[in-house]
Amino acid sequence: MAVEFVLNGKAVRVEGVDPHSSLLAWLRDSGYTGTKEGCAEGECGACAVALVGRARDGQARFEPVNSCLVPLCQAHGQEWVTVEGVAHASALHPVQRALVTLGGSQCGYCTPGFVMSLFCEYYRPGRTVPDPEAIAGNLCRCTGYRPIADALAGLDVEVPRDRFVLQLATSDSRAQPLIYAAGEHQFVRPETLAQLFGVLADHPEALLVAGGTDVMVDVNQRYRRQRVLVSLDALVELKGISSSADEWRLGAGSTLTELERGLRAFEDAPQLLDQLWPLFSSRLIRNRATLGGNLATASPIGDAALVLLALSASVRLVSSAGERSLPLDEFFVGYRQTQLLPGEVIAEVCVPKPLPRIQRFYKVSKRPLDDISTVAAAFCLTLDSEGAVATFRAAFGGVAATSIRAPEAEAAAQGQPWNDRTQRAVAEALGRLGTPLSDPRGSAAYRRAMIVSLFQQFCVDAAEAT
Ligand SMILES: Cc1cc2nc3c(=O)[nH]c(=O)nc-3n(C[C@H](O)[C@H](O)[C@H](O)COP(=O)(O)OP(=O)(O)OC[C@H]3O[C@@H](n4cnc5c(N)ncnc54)[C@H](O)[C@@H]3O)c2cc1C
Ligand code: FES
Ligand code: FES
Repeated sequence: MAVEFVLNGKAVRVEGVDPHSSLLAWLRDSGYTGTKEGCAEGECGACAVALVGRARDGQARFEPVNSCLVPLCQAHGQEWVTVEGVAHASALHPVQRALVTLGGSQCGYCTPGFVMSLFCEYYRPGRTVPDPEAIAGNLCRCTGYRPIADALAGLDVEVPRDRFVLQLATSDSRAQPLIYAAGEHQFVRPETLAQLFGVLADHPEALLVAGGTDVMVDVNQRYRRQRVLVSLDALVELKGISSSADEWRLGAGSTLTELERGLRAFEDAPQLLDQLWPLFSSRLIRNRATLGGNLATASPIGDAALVLLALSASVRLVSSAGERSLPLDEFFVGYRQTQLLPGEVIAEVCVPKPLPRIQRFYKVSKRPLDDISTVAAAFCLTLDSEGAVATFRAAFGGVAATSIRAPEAEAAAQGQPWNDRTQRAVAEALGRLGTPLSDPRGSAAYRRAMIVSLFQQFCVDAAEAT
């Protein structure tokens, strides 16, 4: 099969291109050089393009993504718009006009990326006020951001019924199945778990790709190559949210944006997740990154991992041999190592109910937003009617080879009155937690100090909440 998709309203058919190629690389090789490459690792947004159509929540929208992290083959069956597609003949699109009139472009290198992020924001369903997050994943070295932010702030709320609105009404952005080969490399995008297990039985060494925000960094920057790539993004069985009396079930293949939007429909969704999303990279990344991908990388600074550890979550793993559930604190076994067996994937993350009453997530990073953690912490606390600790959970990232819980500190609080004495005992236990290392983001001593500092911040916030 060839890779086929719609680009700026025209059908495209691609054959003979290595499946490790990113959508960005293909665009630029094919003459669509308006889309720029800055970093090739999801950091700058110069490569932003829009995925068009009706998402799983039924809403039609343009979703901005970093094309440097989209494997070309994942474009298959979908509709895309690049900066070349937004102007109409010689008439600039309103977002381009806003950037020009307000002086939001100087050298212009970042401008196509900003245009695409603004373009997607312009057509966001129900937009009444601008979302500053819309351009948070785009970097500019020249303009100082003010004129660009003004362009965002000045977007007309009334969107005319233009060709893009009409396009939204007819497009479907759901991923389509694909079997593609070029040279010695293959790309397979199954649409059922049964098909996935069949592919993995034939190719146990295959590399799984969900949102690609980790995998494609390796492919682009470290020239990672694998004979077979298997894409998980068309597997509806890995997506979705459900809530029963006992637990929340979050599809591991859901993107973080899908979870963020989906959980908004529930009044009693875990607050920790709500606190996590805005601090997890940028909208451009969250539109692709999945929850399962974040856990499977087992990064010691993976933010979802420690939040879910504090919520006592478990993972449901599936393979052709059946399924099993594991508490998340048993899932991580070492630096970037998990209990996943060959042929096994994370299907769901289960969060038990009732949820703890007070939940807080803290992330220490060089920049307040759109940065990876130096240290991160999540705390959960429920007091009983006497003011004693019924549940206390503390989890940390960036202080050991994996994200970790703090069992000694948790035990020091359990059943105790939530007072200064208990909090001192917890802080003392936290002082012995983990095996922090020094790296360019922070020294071991700094990280150790942060463990206790973040707990002290939690005590202040918990006092306000109680
Ligand atoms: C610019 C940038 C900023 C980032 N910021 C953050 C941040 O703030 N916080 C943070 O925690 N992370 C961050 N990340 C890391 C990354 O975005 C996340 O880890 C993301 O959740 C990975 O999900 P994915 O779907 O893109 O994974 P992929 O890249 O597709 O896959 C990652 C790994 O997981 C495996 N995998 C994926 N899905 C499954 C599954 N269902 N079952 C089994 N294995 C699976 C893949 O085989 C691969 O080994 C950032 C990355 C970039 C590039
Ligand atoms: S080139 Fe920088 S985010 Fe893609
Ligand atoms: S205008 Fe030069 S990088 Fe933004």
